[in-house]
Amino acid sequence: MPPLVPPLATLRRRRSAKWRSHPVDVLPLPVAEMDYVLAEPVVQALREAIDRSDAGYAAPTRDLALALCGYAGRAWDWAVDPEHVRTVTDVGLGIVETLRRLVSPGDGVVLSLPVYEPFSWWIREVGALPVEAPLTSRSGSGGEPRLDLDALEEAFAAPQTVAYLLCNPHNPLGLVHSRSELAALAELADRYGVHVLSDEIHAPLTLPGAEFIPFLSVSDAARRRGFAFHSASKGWNLAGLKAATVVTAHPAPKRYVDRLSPHSLFRTGHLGVLATVAAYEHGDAWLAEVVEALDHNRRLLGQLLTQHLPRVGYRPPGAGFLAWLDFRDQFPRLPPSPRSPSDRRSPEARDGADDPAAHLLETARVALTSGLGYGTGGRGFARLNFACAPETLVEAVTRIASVVDGAGG
Ligand SMILES: Cc1ncc(COP(=O)(O)O)c(C=O)c1O
Repeated sequence: MPPLVPPLATLRRRRSAKWRSHPVDVLPLPVAEMDYVLAEPVVQALREAIDRSDAGYAAPTRDLALALCGYAGRAWDWAVDPEHVRTVTDVGLGIVETLRRLVSPGDGVVLSLPVYEPFSWWIREVGALPVEAPLTSRSGSGGEPRLDLDALEEAFAAPQTVAYLLCNPHNPLGLVHSRSELAALAELADRYGVHVLSDEIHAPLTLPGAEFIPFLSVSDAARRRGFAFHSASKGWNLAGLKAATVVTAHPAPKRYVDRLSPHSLFRTGHLGVLATVAAYEHGDAWLAEVVEALDHNRRLLGQLLTQHLPRVGYRPPGAGFLAWLDFRDQFPRLPPSPRSPSDRRSPEARDGADDPAAHLLETARVALTSGLGYGTGGRGFARLNFACAPETLVEAVTRIASVVDGAGG
């Protein structure tokens, strides 16, 4: 059995965005790619395709739909009807093209901020306007941010609101929404006639202690109003292969999906479909190993931060491999200081208060994702990808601790 994470020198030979966006002295922990070696059944499916010189178009079969149905049943006890599964290039395109059929220019699409940065790009791409309903930390959540159902109701009641983009589980906080929250959300959406697009791409990576609830499984209201977007691209690390699905569970939303371009299948990666089928059908054991490694790393990160960076806030995520780090105590906002003529860095990069990621890239040579792109609530935060070897995590925290004031021992 090969090691789950290859050595750093081998990883640096990868040609993907994570490994080609920074110079070699930078430790890259941004883009949502995992460092783990691919699942053997996926490798085998891809090797066999290459051996057959089988790199044409995706075939009009039900293989992907049936594989998703099998996986969703085993993983989440969720009965998906293969007739309600539509193949698309990726989750981003699936959401954009579905939204395009739901909204008119100037319509509002609601978001629970801070949230995955491209959500607001996708909304603008179709001529709609993002409407903010930020997450809340109140109402008995023990300080944990949750969906703000009051803010959602207010946003849904606005006449221009047509849809809500739900991140389930939520990137970047790793929140796993509960059945009761999702049922309440569905009820509100149904009451105000709002469509819910549930991005469930991180669901296979739900970690011990949390239970992923598919939005379409919670109620008739959810099924009447909802679309779910699934892909093996996060769970099995196949983002470059381009295959995803849109799932519905009621004729009303299905009618919109039926209007997607008939070419959407040909725009989907054939190798992506083959790899995804292999992942859904034979990838459970590999996924369980990855989930265990991520569970270990989320705890290790907590220990490392407590020890070396006690002023950095962190709540271990319930799903996924992203840590949403709060640097506001580490880099408090200071009055503007005179800038020396030799310092060509941006003001954010100089003191880290607004954009800790920019500051740490320059000073610690660690690449995190800036919190600024995640909208309201992102200033002073950075996102760290911990789908890496534990040693890489140790190195990242050590590098950061070596450049900040008041770090622990
Ligand atoms: C919540 C979420 N949705 C969608 C995507 C992108 O998915 P795709 O590459 O299938 O468009 C990501 C990637 O990190 C993500 O985190």
